[in-house]
Amino acid sequence: MGLLIKNGEIITADSRYKADIYAEGETITRIGNNLDAPPGTEVIDARGKYVFPGFIDPHVHIYLPFMATFAKDTHETGSKAALMGGTTTYIEMCCPSRNDDALEGYNLWKSKAEGNSYCDYTFHMSVTKFDPKTEAQLREIVADGISSFKIFLSYKNFFGVEDGEMYQTMRLAKELGVIVTAHCENAELVGQLQQKLLSEGKTGPEWHEPSRPESVEAEGTNRFATFLENTGATGYVVHLSCKPALDAALAAKARGVPLYIESVIPHFLLDKTYAEQGGVEAMKYIMSPPLREKRNQKALWDALAQGFIDTVGTDHCPFDTSQKLLGKDAFTSIPNGIPAIEDRVNLLYTYGVSRGHLDIHRFVDAASTRAAKLFGLFPRKGTIAVGSDADLVVYDPQYRGKISVATQSVNNDYNGFEGFEIDGKPSVVTVRGKVAVREGQFVGEKGRGKLLRREPMYF
Ligand code: URP
Ligand code: ZN
Ligand code: ZN
Ligand code: ZN
Repeated sequence: MGLLIKNGEIITADSRYKADIYAEGETITRIGNNLDAPPGTEVIDARGKYVFPGFIDPHVHIYLPFMATFAKDTHETGSKAALMGGTTTYIEMCCPSRNDDALEGYNLWKSKAEGNSYCDYTFHMSVTKFDPKTEAQLREIVADGISSFKIFLSYKNFFGVEDGEMYQTMRLAKELGVIVTAHCENAELVGQLQQKLLSEGKTGPEWHEPSRPESVEAEGTNRFATFLENTGATGYVVHLSCKPALDAALAAKARGVPLYIESVIPHFLLDKTYAEQGGVEAMKYIMSPPLREKRNQKALWDALAQGFIDTVGTDHCPFDTSQKLLGKDAFTSIPNGIPAIEDRVNLLYTYGVSRGHLDIHRFVDAASTRAAKLFGLFPRKGTIAVGSDADLVVYDPQYRGKISVATQSVNNDYNGFEGFEIDGKPSVVTVRGKVAVREGQFVGEKGRGKLLRREPMYF
């Protein structure tokens, strides 16, 4: 059965025009005016609405084993929440710990997703150690369709790698045409500062940010870039949060280091005062790198508008109130993470496009197209074109509402953006030609989401 989306205004990263879109099966087969459709076609009237390519979240955690617990979403709840918010593909961090076998971890992550997702997905493969088995295992994982690695310069002894392991990972990535994504914070400094603060009796959540100051992230970013420079690998900084780290990344780019930058929606809209409210309210806002002083937000919005920040993801990682309370006696035990998979697109549209800080094409680029290009999904994903997957978001820019835990699909008992106004939302969302959200209601099909095979890219 076909799908026809009529009368909408199509907006991609580089074009804007009124046309109908017809999808036969999973793929867009025609774009044009006054398209007719065979009997049995599902027809959606998008008059007065925008039609965007399905959005891509390049950084999510689903059921992450972390800090003595597990992030709350499963693939079922996480992918439903993604689709309700217009995200049709996400890239999950596959994160076996340093004590786990990488290949077993990869197979475990795959098995948790298989058959359970409503939307398409793939993984960044975390390299959390580089031992004699690692190289052969990573070659096997890349051959299986995974063309990006993830390393953590923080979380020492759990996810974190030593500098020598970072070097080995980059050498292999360069050879294989794999992009290396990285969480950039200096692990040693974080550990020392945490111990110093705790020993001074500074145990509350307001001490999380001072334990990982901006300079610690800038150092990690600069070190990551320096290793890229000396291995020839291509890199991508994840969840960049502050101006000093941005300056370090831009300085590396300016000297020719192939480095791309992601920031995540919490850092554009939330600041460290949220983590200074005391008690569990503050714990809800603990993530790493931490929410920063508000002055950083202007630097992030400006860099995003100019395309220096390539992508906006979420770092979606929900922990509920009882899990956050694991850290009631010490901020170092608060599970790190803020959920946003459902709200990223609406927030970026509202506080970027609608409120005049972001061109609408740059919005599509940052929330979809550039991730598709960097991670080997373009033009199958990330654009609206004949031959592309029919992942489409019919977006209602007239909608006015507020974010609330009461209406969210994310499996959590709070929403860090509670009460935030939104100036638009998806009315129809399709996954490879099938409607998953209709009139804002979820009608998705469990298991429709597939693991996307990605080929290496020689940048
Ligand atoms: O606080 C965060 N970011 N939690 C998820 C793990 C990570 O560092 O991405
Ligand atoms: Zn991280
Ligand atoms: Zn993350
Ligand atoms: Zn424009």
